[in-house]
Amino acid sequence: MAEKLDIKPASGKLGILTPGMGAVSSTFIAGVEAIRQGLRLPIGSFTQMGHIRLGKRTDDRQPLVRNFVPLADLDDLVFGGWDIFPDSVYEAAMKAGVLEKELLNQLKPQLDAIRPMKAVFDNFYVKKLEGTHVKSGTKMELAEALMKDMETFKKENGCDRLVMVWCGSTEIFMKRSEVHQDLASFEKGLREDHPDIPPSMIYAYAAIKMGIPYANGAPNLSGDVPALEQLAKDKGVGVCGKDFKTGQTLMKTILAPGFKARQLGVSGWFSTNILGNRDGEVLDDPASFKTKEESKLSVLDTILQPQLYPDLYGNLYHKVRINYYPPRGDNKEGWDNIDIFGWCSMPMQIKVDFLCRDSILAAPLVLDLALLLDLGARAGLPGGIQEWLSFYFKSPVTPAGLLPEHDLFIQQTKLKNTLRWMMGEEVITHLGREYYEDR
Ligand SMILES: NC(=O)c1ccc[n+]([C@@H]2O[C@H](COP(=O)([O-])OP(=O)(O)OC[C@H]3O[C@@H](n4cnc5c(N)ncnc54)[C@H](O)[C@@H]3O)[C@@H](O)[C@H]2O)c1
Repeated sequence: MAEKLDIKPASGKLGILTPGMGAVSSTFIAGVEAIRQGLRLPIGSFTQMGHIRLGKRTDDRQPLVRNFVPLADLDDLVFGGWDIFPDSVYEAAMKAGVLEKELLNQLKPQLDAIRPMKAVFDNFYVKKLEGTHVKSGTKMELAEALMKDMETFKKENGCDRLVMVWCGSTEIFMKRSEVHQDLASFEKGLREDHPDIPPSMIYAYAAIKMGIPYANGAPNLSGDVPALEQLAKDKGVGVCGKDFKTGQTLMKTILAPGFKARQLGVSGWFSTNILGNRDGEVLDDPASFKTKEESKLSVLDTILQPQLYPDLYGNLYHKVRINYYPPRGDNKEGWDNIDIFGWCSMPMQIKVDFLCRDSILAAPLVLDLALLLDLGARAGLPGGIQEWLSFYFKSPVTPAGLLPEHDLFIQQTKLKNTLRWMMGEEVITHLGREYYEDR
């Protein structure tokens, strides 16, 4: 059996900071508050509801994940963040309209007390938004101001540790450039206000510099550039992203591995979404949509591997659309038409009509990511990319030259095996010969 890692106890308070305190962030905070008060269950959260099998199937050891690994207790969480609007979490949650008003009113004293700090924001990177609750200065000064915010928040709230999860809007599509290649050019870029450094990168830089683990819930590059990856490695800070895996992409990564497992062909996959929340409005801008589109499109290619299976997936036509449709609010409709083919090339069709609540699916991911990043930090995992958390992302970040793993079930196995390994338990390969050897 492997040796258990020396994991520091989860004593004291854990501060969870979210740049962006809109629908996802407010639904997450309100949900945790409702769970703490015994009003709701943490449904959708692997760390809170999930069990993990240990040892042989015949051993009957299947503890809850939260009883197996030393996670921070929900009662020890403190919430904070930044937004370009000064609304409290109560006001933001009421505007987002995701949770019932009656529930939010029950939680009002706690939610109204959480107010965002002034944001680092530039409308050049999110065209559809204009905000007043923003900081000013050079990009380096802004990074320093964020670091100061984190220090003050930690002190004022008596936190032992902090983690950061980006829940801000999707920024315009950007590619890695010279300024992102190493820390010296990145910091020079910050001092000189380089246009290739958007706000989400400034938050990521500030967090990593402060030794705070960072997860990116949007498809923006943010921490996914060589300079910040290196900084995270040097500082021993865990980073992961990108783009919470919810809604339609979650469905894709459940269905596509099944088609491939049964060697069924796919000739077309048309996905369209209608949604009317602020995220939908931001994604109505072609530059922000392009960032999201890249993130959504990469999934099928990586799962289906058309280069290995040209007869099954070589001619797959994959199209993704997002349409802003205000009447729906956060209650998105994701509609998929999948053209598949089977034995003797006979065509078949599958239609998926997912009446989904995006933020309801995303909120538990924020909780899990915060708790698991904090666990990884206390376990002394090496800094840099935390691929074991790919389970939560549409475009899992990997080092250059390594293809991401998109299959939800492989991602789940990887996550569970990492927890088993951390705790000195056998990893489970599902080979299963041991059940037959004694017979
Ligand atoms: N809801 C989901 O299921 C889901 C899934 C995957 C990814 N995401 C991503 O998560 C992010 C949040 O989604 P949402 O539904 O909460 O959107 P939202 O529009 O309700 O909230 C985003 C908030 O970020 C704020 N913001 C924008 N730029 C900022 C900055 N630089 N600093 C601080 N605040 C900033 C906005 O004012 C807004 O309040 C989006 O990028 C979205 O694409 C959401």
